[in-house]
Amino acid sequence: MPAWVVVGAQWGDEGKGKVVDLIAEQAELVARYGGGANAGHTLKVGGVKVVTHLLPSGVLHPGVRCVLGAGMVIDPKVLVDELQDCEARGFQVRDRLLVSARAHLTFPFQSAIDRAANAGPRSLGTTGRGIGPTYADKAARLGLRVGEACDLGRHGDALDALVDTWAARARAVGAEAPSREGTRAWLGPLTDELRPLLGDASLAVDTAIREGRRVVLEGAQGTLLDLDHGTYPFVTSSNTVAGGACTGLGIGPTRITEVLGITKAYCTRVGHGPFPTELSGPEGERLREQGEEYGATTGRPRRCGWLDLPALRYAARVNGLTALAVTKLDILAEYPEVPVCVAYTVDGARTEEFPVDALDRAEPVYERWPGWDRSVAEARLEDALPVSVRRYLQGIEKAVGVPVVLASVGAERAATIVRRALF
Ligand code: IMP
Repeated sequence: MPAWVVVGAQWGDEGKGKVVDLIAEQAELVARYGGGANAGHTLKVGGVKVVTHLLPSGVLHPGVRCVLGAGMVIDPKVLVDELQDCEARGFQVRDRLLVSARAHLTFPFQSAIDRAANAGPRSLGTTGRGIGPTYADKAARLGLRVGEACDLGRHGDALDALVDTWAARARAVGAEAPSREGTRAWLGPLTDELRPLLGDASLAVDTAIREGRRVVLEGAQGTLLDLDHGTYPFVTSSNTVAGGACTGLGIGPTRITEVLGITKAYCTRVGHGPFPTELSGPEGERLREQGEEYGATTGRPRRCGWLDLPALRYAARVNGLTALAVTKLDILAEYPEVPVCVAYTVDGARTEEFPVDALDRAEPVYERWPGWDRSVAEARLEDALPVSVRRYLQGIEKAVGVPVVLASVGAERAATIVRRALF
């Protein structure tokens, strides 16, 4: 049975939540491998909307084991709130959730500095969830892991060292300093809730794959926000690409056989940074309103633009995509023609490659593909799609060299055309 990695092929918000929720119907284990509460996965089931930030999108399926991997950064308050919220809606999660003891914790002082930096001159427009500062502390070997936080009898010194460092930083800029006692008082009740969930995520995921179980490794954010392969410095602080599933979960690359990339039928981005096909003015506004393009985590309006095929080809390369899912096809209804970026001009020269370090100078070269003049929101079979939609999907497959296995025409699970079953 293949283990599927599911990644965003653009700048995040491609609809991974919906796709993972859909394939989780057949899955036995869904694991998240990176990022933290910066993610916002919107799941819509039977008219009920659930947004998860830390829990994997498989969480709404009672039989599915959920795992949070070592590569994640976990704000314990957000996780506990999310668990309680799920329980209040009738979804029992704790008995099937495993949290890696090796994941790092995000503290309020790390989130506060992240938000403060957004107001500064070098703002990246982050989600303000403390992601960058937590990963920075991890790389500096100063961070606290969930397992250590749950065993302060042995690791109290590590917590004190972290708090003292942040207190000194705060005092240096005249800000309110965190205290050892205050931090312990905040952390204590939260770790009481997390302690029973702790485990070895690497062992759990590797064993499930070896046993031939149906496993989904769920990415967060998108390829172009990857710390190494995205549009640095306008990126997040983790490896969002498929390879991040290996390091973030503690499994070998030979365990992964399939990688599903999710792309919208157009493009969006939140936060700052280059975006060649961005539409300003009424055209961008129209896509934003029709696609309800507002951030699930921050509520910020998303920047909108046309589909970018060189970027998608790049995503296919750096992730090793074996399949694509195209979402939000319903939003492009009633456009007589849909411009699609097939190449760029950079400093006067045409290129079909994604110019990672010259993206701010890349001018899109568009082809105008036939649009569809009617709603596709009710289509459930490929035959029900207008010819122009089928040609749109074929055009993507041809340009990217990867088959489109799923096409999504609405937020609900059922609003999906399955061209090839994943399991
Ligand atoms: P951070 O991950 O909060 O540090 O934010 C860094 C960049 O990634 C900013 O441009 C954010 O808007 C963007 N970002 C982080 N998480 C997401 C996500 O889940 N969807 C879309 N953009 C995201």
